[in-house]
Amino acid sequence: MRRRLVVANWKMHGSLDSAQALLDGLVSCIGDSAVEVAVCPPFVHVPLAVSVTTDSAIGVGGQTCSEYDSGAYTGEVAAAMLADIGCDRVILGHSERRQYFAETNDQVALKAQAVRRAGLVPVLCVGETLEQREQGRAEEVVAEQLQALLAEPLQASDVIAYEPVWAIGTGKTASPEQAQQMHAFIRQFLRQHSAAEAEAIRLLYGGSVKAANAAELFAQQDIDGALVGGASLDATEFAAIIAAAQ
Ligand code: 13P
Repeated sequence: MRRRLVVANWKMHGSLDSAQALLDGLVSCIGDSAVEVAVCPPFVHVPLAVSVTTDSAIGVGGQTCSEYDSGAYTGEVAAAMLADIGCDRVILGHSERRQYFAETNDQVALKAQAVRRAGLVPVLCVGETLEQREQGRAEEVVAEQLQALLAEPLQASDVIAYEPVWAIGTGKTASPEQAQQMHAFIRQFLRQHSAAEAEAIRLLYGGSVKAANAAELFAQQDIDGALVGGASLDATEFAAIIAAAQ
């Protein structure tokens, strides 16, 4: 039985004050939960998040990291540095990283290896653009992204997030059936390559998830949780998504 997981991706939002208020809100809204919960703030707010969530069950993660362990890479942050300050996971290959920072499939695979070397869990994002979906290439694109990740064997603790690019921040969610169809495709792909891990790896859906649509998404067989952007910036809304996953 896969434990449900809900991860907040705060992206580049917030100030120290607003992050503190959001974290305080989350800690008071989210008690003991059967669902695993984590927040991924901007790097500079990670220490605050770790400190506020210390006595809670909420994990903390980074939104990206370097593929290198250390060296002259100005502006980069190593996975081990994130582990050192209390992170337990790192989101990798988010479509915004791919689109605006030219991250390639191969680079995401190297980053996943760096994250595992640091003892952290990679949350690996895949997903197609609207154009690719309209061309009927959604599964092909996701398969290519997954194939690159197999440069090193996937682990049962790895997490994969399917985030159709056209559903991110647009208010346009994939229908539960559309999401389930792609999740089933991903699970089947994993079965062919890492049979033992395929049943354990959690597949999150991301893209305009909110309290109002969470339950119908979580009701799908291969949707094990969510990677939440905008709706994770409101403690009450995010707590309602977690409640829907119980
Ligand atoms: P939204 O929930 O704002 O659509 O963002 C999804 C996302 O990109 C999470 O990583």
